[in-house]
Amino acid sequence: MRPFTPIEGATHTAPATPGDLFFHIRAEREDLCFEFERLLLDQLGSSVTLADEVAGFRYFDSRDLLGFVDGTANPTGHDIGSSTLVGSEDQEFAGGSYVVVQKYLHQMQPWAQLSKDEQERIIGREIVSNVELPDATSGQKSHKTLATIVGDDGTEHDILRDNMPFGRPGHGEYGTYFIGYSRYLWVTQKMLERMFLGDPPGMHDRLLDFSTARTGAVFFAPAPRTLSELVQAVQV
Ligand code: HEM
Repeated sequence: MRPFTPIEGATHTAPATPGDLFFHIRAEREDLCFEFERLLLDQLGSSVTLADEVAGFRYFDSRDLLGFVDGTANPTGHDIGSSTLVGSEDQEFAGGSYVVVQKYLHQMQPWAQLSKDEQERIIGREIVSNVELPDATSGQKSHKTLATIVGDDGTEHDILRDNMPFGRPGHGEYGTYFIGYSRYLWVTQKMLERMFLGDPPGMHDRLLDFSTARTGAVFFAPAPRTLSELVQAVQV
């Protein structure tokens, strides 16, 4: 485990921001998330101070605020476990998952001024149908291509993304809270490097011209077994 490594690209930076504990609270109903958070903070009391709090929501058919369906290429079925959970390579922490989070704020007006074709080339998918566009073979690559990590043996390494849109239109705030769970921290790190530094270098992910990373942190979500052991250790 190591802290989030900030990435300084020629044009955009992925900053590292502080945080020791991360609670990802999910439910279909917002009141349940609210209540859980309230009870949790009551329990933690003055032992914690809040670094950030973001309430996300499901936007139409799982779209981000830029209008694209987000999460389509997530692993499914058995692939979820093999992409997200530490395995026998690290027995002590097996069943846990590395969590990378980043809070992005979107520049909505410049984005809206792009043509639909340009928006689709940036993301790498069609906006309405969500069908993938072919990968560019050279030059500027789409977000989807830059975020695809293929190992030396040709294996594609996935992560599980649970990005959530958030915002306050009255405050001009529109964002995406990126949450990525991975078995190997290097995979998410590599995605970020390809997005911010570019591939080829200098050709960064154009999504970043319309989305600014304001936070960045790494956490480890221990396996339920490890959490139980921690609780037992405290109770003894
Ligand atoms: C402003 C923040 C972001 C937005 C709005 C966004 C949006 C999207 C959208 C619309 C897609 C295409 C549909 C899909 O497969 O989900 C996508 C794909 C993807 N994104 Fe992002 N994304 C963001 C940040 C990131 C970051 C920071 C990472 C990784 C560190 C990432 C990793 C991926 C991956 C792995 C894919 C799938 C690529 C494939 O087709 O295999 N995204 N994203």
